[in-house]
Amino acid sequence: MVSSGLMSSVPTVPHGSAAGPDAPVCAASERAPASNDDPLLLRAYRGEPVERVPVWFMRQAGRSLPEYRAVREHAGLFEICRTPELAAEVTLQPVRRLGVDAAILFSDITLPLAAAGIDLEIVPGVGPVIAEPIRSTADLRRLRPFHPDEDAPYVAETVRLAVAELDVPLIGFAGGPFTLASYLIEGGPSKTHARTRKMMYGEPLLWRRLLEELADIAIASLRSQVTAGAEAVQIFDSWAGALDPDSYRDFVLPASRRIFSATADLNVPRIHFGVCTGELLPLLAAAGADVVGVDWRVPLDAARTRLGEEITVQGNLDPALCLAPWEILAEHVRAVLDRGGGTGHVFNLGHGVLPETSPDVLRRIVEHVREHTDAGPRTEDAERSVPRV
Ligand code: CP3
Repeated sequence: MVSSGLMSSVPTVPHGSAAGPDAPVCAASERAPASNDDPLLLRAYRGEPVERVPVWFMRQAGRSLPEYRAVREHAGLFEICRTPELAAEVTLQPVRRLGVDAAILFSDITLPLAAAGIDLEIVPGVGPVIAEPIRSTADLRRLRPFHPDEDAPYVAETVRLAVAELDVPLIGFAGGPFTLASYLIEGGPSKTHARTRKMMYGEPLLWRRLLEELADIAIASLRSQVTAGAEAVQIFDSWAGALDPDSYRDFVLPASRRIFSATADLNVPRIHFGVCTGELLPLLAAAGADVVGVDWRVPLDAARTRLGEEITVQGNLDPALCLAPWEILAEHVRAVLDRGGGTGHVFNLGHGVLPETSPDVLRRIVEHVREHTDAGPRTEDAERSVPRV
């Protein structure tokens, strides 16, 4: 798998790769065409028939791992993110321990906001808290354009360090426009997103300007991560499910589309995810995604019907099942795999790993996914395991 002891063995990599929407993207233009030798995860994301279903977990790096908590005793969350050796180390931890088929960059969706001038703190047990929320045109001026090379060079450096140690793909990510807007407008986590929706409906011009800025931040961030070596990216619009489809289409989709169209040339699979998005699934795909992350509320076969055969699905075990007795959990893992249909499916949870989850259980899930899908397509699945055109 990956070697341990990253912190002593990492090569020093120079800063300064191209980034930003206008910069030339070497990684994309030099990227080899799709091949059968590509990692399992990438082939599955492309909807190709695979020897087994790949698996990784949203929030796999973090509080469920004792080795993460050990690092966290000496450094704050943003401090870890801003120290490439530490961030790369915690990116690798779940790959070593769990044997997952992907790493996800250790960072946070709110980090580019902090780097673009927003006074923001992650309060443990609460989430991102913003000192002065954005509620007017004047407030919007505090959100500067984001230049990853200058404002947050440590992110690309983390990607380079982690990729040098990994033998599975690294997934980069950015916050989706609704989710980041909600944090900025509410000033912190919200159950109702009421102020956010109030601005969306009541001040559509201000809303649109804010979402355009947030889309630009996501584009710059994703391009920089891919240039540094990320092989897939996920847009976490975690809280977009607060909206009905018409409102999502009118008020969020244009910004999401912009993110997907401005990253299409990177030639990496792009995943679009949010919780409670059952009614929005076709719109998450319409934004331009290659893969849609599905939470546990919609069975994967139903999600596929809503999404069409061209879209790969990712998910969708209820994270709370990881706290249930093994036999019950294992049965649900198999049910998710069966509904996923073998092809065009990447196994994951329906949302992030809960902090109280045992890493041993996560490892057992990885093994179970392998055992259940390893022998190649089972007879009853053979029909579904043909390439989708
Ligand atoms: O393996 C990984 O996924 C780790 C990398 C990662 C983090 N945040 C680190 C982190 C990723 C992919 C994120 C994304 C993120 N951040 C999302 C989208 C994913 C989702 O869960 O829907 C959101 C909504 C955030 C905002 C955020 N940051 C929240 C809600 C919290 C939790 C606050 C808490 O204490 O419960 C954070 C903090 C955070 N980001 C932690 C980690 C490991 C935990 C806090 C810590 O270690 O101090």
